[in-house]
Amino acid sequence: MKRQFHALVLAAGKGTRFKSEKIKLLHTLMGKSMLKMGVDSISQLKPKMTHIIVGYQKEALMEEFSGDGISFITQKSQLGTAHAVMAASKTLSKYNEDDVLIMNGDLPLIRPHTLRPLLKQHQKQGNALTFMSAEMDDPTGFGRVIYLDKNRIRIIEERDATTEQRKLKEGNAGIYVFKIKDMIAALPKILNKNKKGEYYLTDIIEILSSSGKKVGVHKTTHVREIVGVNDRFELAKAVKILRMRKIESMALKGVTFYDPASTWIDFDVNIGRDTVIYPFVVLEGNSVIGKECTLYPGAHIINSRLGQGVKILSSTMIEESRIADKAQIGPFTHLRPNSIIKSGAKVGNFVEMKNTVFGNRSKAGHLSYVGDSLVGKDVNIGAGTITCNYDGVKKNKTIIDDRVFVGSGTQLVAPLKVRKGAYIAAGSTITKDVSAEALVVARVKQREIKDWVSKKKKK
Ligand code: UD1
Ligand code: CA
Repeated sequence: MKRQFHALVLAAGKGTRFKSEKIKLLHTLMGKSMLKMGVDSISQLKPKMTHIIVGYQKEALMEEFSGDGISFITQKSQLGTAHAVMAASKTLSKYNEDDVLIMNGDLPLIRPHTLRPLLKQHQKQGNALTFMSAEMDDPTGFGRVIYLDKNRIRIIEERDATTEQRKLKEGNAGIYVFKIKDMIAALPKILNKNKKGEYYLTDIIEILSSSGKKVGVHKTTHVREIVGVNDRFELAKAVKILRMRKIESMALKGVTFYDPASTWIDFDVNIGRDTVIYPFVVLEGNSVIGKECTLYPGAHIINSRLGQGVKILSSTMIEESRIADKAQIGPFTHLRPNSIIKSGAKVGNFVEMKNTVFGNRSKAGHLSYVGDSLVGKDVNIGAGTITCNYDGVKKNKTIIDDRVFVGSGTQLVAPLKVRKGAYIAAGSTITKDVSAEALVVARVKQREIKDWVSKKKKK
């Protein structure tokens, strides 16, 4: 029978090598924190419970996982990885007959299909402990696995290793499965006699194996997932791997990428089939891009939804907005939060929109600001139209009904209603509601003073 297992993630350390005010594990890769990446992978293996060891900035960490059904255990002072596990002894001892999967919190690239065989091997061999290792080209920063004799294995941390030991290529991944009972019995035997003066969890490997307990090594071939991000350059390298992983998975689902190396797509973004992505496109947060869209260079989309066949032309920023099928946005457009662009609409060159519904097939092609507005269908917003939505105290609404024509250079002073089919003459400043089908002209009449220039010169 498959044994139940608990998961324990070590996340109490500050991450000094990150040189940050913020705890290392809350730094993000493609929109998701390092710790959440690792914890989400473990969750897919369905542990009985997941416990996170917290200490440094624990409130922020706990907030990150609020509502995820995770239990937190506090390690008051950070005296090493074994000391962190000891903080969980009391909780885990209630489940003496189960296993526990222990993982360092700084393994954002680890995937469920890499963790699964470790658990399997552990249960199949009936080990007291099975840990993951990998043969690395460059194991710098990792503890090295040393086989003392047939049954005795030891891990030596890099800073405590001799030059000879440092040449060993098998690194400790920082992922372990224990029989809870055996682990709890061995933990108190760990001492802090090393260069750092810390209690190393890795010492338990020699303790268990030399006391006759069965210790197994699961050597994974997925070396690229074993990163143990310690500083920001390692984070940058991990992001690079993750970015390509994301782009590969989208490409295999039918998305075209002209230049993966210059494309940034956050972890939670989704893209439909036959969409084409030009170089220098950035898609962030939980954005969803529909099928058959084209995103031209410099499209920057944050937490937004695009329907089918949408075109985003060059250098366009879209935040928290929704764009329906076949609409076209850009070039140089800024859609600020809560812009709802209906199907077939066009928002073009140097237009800014905010908190606005923009109806089917309506157009705002050039140099306009449309804010806090409700714009109907087939409306034409002429070049340089401005909704004057702010009176210095509050934001006011502009309502423009279907088929309205707004001439160029118009100011619409809100609150204001322009009824169906009305025409507004170019250069108008509209301060009162406009009736349906009417033409309004609200500008001073043109005057011409004959020979004004020549007379002035004579003076
Ligand atoms: C650790 C391993 C090393 C392994 C490497 C893999 C030890 C002693 N060494 O080294 O063999 O090759 O990971 O990446 O375990 N933490 C706590 N409380 C503490 C100290 C650390 O919760 O008191 C947490 C940290 O937040 C971190 C994790 O434990 O998530 C690992 O700590 P870190 O300092 O990164 O260990 P390494 O030096 O990388
Ligand atoms: Ca580490």
